[in-house]
Amino acid sequence: MKVLVIGSGGREHALCWAIAKSPSCTELICAPGNAGIAEIAECVPVAAEDTEGLVDLARDGAIDFVIVGPEGPLVDGLVDRLEEVGIRAFGPSARAAELEGSKGFMKDICFQYGIPTAEYARFDEPDAAKQYILRRGAPIVVKADGLAAGKGVIVCRNQNEAFAAIDHIMIERAFGDAGAEVVIEECLEGEEASFFALVDGKHALAMASAQDHKCAHDGDTGPNTGGMGAYAPAPVITPEIAAQIMERVIEPTIAAMTAERRPYKGVLYAGLMIADGVPKVLEFNVRFGDPECQPLVMRLKSDLLESLVACTEERIADTTLEWHDECALVVVMATKGYPGWYEKGSVIRDIDRAADAEGVAVFHAGTKRSNGHLVADGGRVLGVTARGRDVAEARERAYRAVDMVDWPEGFCRRDIGGPAGGR
Ligand code: AMP
Ligand code: GLY
Repeated sequence: MKVLVIGSGGREHALCWAIAKSPSCTELICAPGNAGIAEIAECVPVAAEDTEGLVDLARDGAIDFVIVGPEGPLVDGLVDRLEEVGIRAFGPSARAAELEGSKGFMKDICFQYGIPTAEYARFDEPDAAKQYILRRGAPIVVKADGLAAGKGVIVCRNQNEAFAAIDHIMIERAFGDAGAEVVIEECLEGEEASFFALVDGKHALAMASAQDHKCAHDGDTGPNTGGMGAYAPAPVITPEIAAQIMERVIEPTIAAMTAERRPYKGVLYAGLMIADGVPKVLEFNVRFGDPECQPLVMRLKSDLLESLVACTEERIADTTLEWHDECALVVVMATKGYPGWYEKGSVIRDIDRAADAEGVAVFHAGTKRSNGHLVADGGRVLGVTARGRDVAEARERAYRAVDMVDWPEGFCRRDIGGPAGGR
C-alpha cells in the first residue's frame, strides 16, 4: 500500500514512525513533512492547506491511502475531495469535522443529545455577550467559535477579564473570522485528561488516554501553548471511567452525528474534565493530539496502519489494538520565546545520541536541514519521547535524552509527568 501522510508536526512524525513499521506499507510519502520525517518517508513540499495540490499529489502518485494529521485540512474538506476522486482517506468529512471547527456546533450537539458538558450560550454580538457575563458572573470561559490554533479559549477569573476576552476575540478579531461568534460557558473544576477513540461511522474502538501540559513554563505557569509535554495513559482515567466515557460521550456522539447526517469517521479526541468520577466534555478534536500522539504510538504494539484502514472500511467493530504495558511520556523542546516571538535557524546537535538512548524516540516538529546541519524551523521543535515501567521511569529516560541534545537556543519544561499534573 502506498501511504501519504499530511502534516509536518511531531504528531505526523509519530504517525509516520508507526506506519513505516507496518508490513502493509510499501511506500511512505509525507507532505510537507520535516527533517525527521525525511529520514523515514519521502517528503514532498505541498502545504497541508493546499487542498487541490494534495489531491493532485495523491492522484498523480497513485496513493492508496491518505492520513490527514491536522484539523485545518479536515475542516476544509480534504477528505471529501480525496474521496470524490476515488482515494481512500482517514479522517472525517468537512461536515463531521465541524465538531472541532465550530465550538457552537459542538455544544449544540451535546445539548440536544444529552452528552455531558458545561452549560453555555452562543453570541454573535459583543454587547449581548457582555450582558450574559454580567448575569452569570465569574469565573467563566470565553471561546472563539472557530479554529484558533488552540489559542481561542480564555478562562476568565473575573468580569474584567471576561469583557477583555470578548473585546479581544470579537472586536479586535485576534483570531480573525473564528471570532465572529463566541461560546461562553460555565467554568468546570476537576482534573483534565484526553481520550482517543477510532470511529468508523457506526462503531467506536477505545484507543487510549493521555494527559497533556499546555502551559509554557514549569508549575503550569506562562502562556498557553499547543502542548509542552504529555504522558499516557492518564491515571485519572480508570477502566471504569473509560467505560463511562465510551458509553456516555463517544457512543452518543457517534449516534448524534449519524442522526444529523454527518456520519463521523476518524479519530475522535475528547478533551474532558473529570470531577468526582464524572467526565464532562470540554472540547472535541477531530484528529490525534499533538504531542499526545507521540506517547500514544510509543505504547502501541499492533499495526496502526491496519487499524486506520479498518476504520475507513467500517470494520472497526472487528478490530483490536494491542498495547505495551509500559507508560510513555514526551517532553517537547521548543525554541526560546515560544509561544511568542522566536528566531528560526539555530543549529541542533547530538540528537542522534538522544534518539539511541534506551526506550527513546525523538520525534521532530519544526526542523529542517540547512548546510548539512539540523536547524530549528518553528516553535515546537522536538518531541523527546520515552517508554518506561511507570511514569517516573519514562520521565527519567526522556529527560536524560533531552540533556544529551546540544541546543542552547531551545528550552523545555522540567516537570512533565510531575506532581503538577497535566493542564
Ligand atoms: P482547548 O484549547 O479548547 O483545549 O481549551 C484550552 C483549555 O481551556 C482546556 O484545556 C481547559 O484547561 C480550559 N477549558 C476549556 N473549557 C473549559 C471549561 N468549561 N471550564 C474550565 N476550563 C476550561
Ligand atoms: N495537545 C492539544 C491538541 O492537540 O489539541
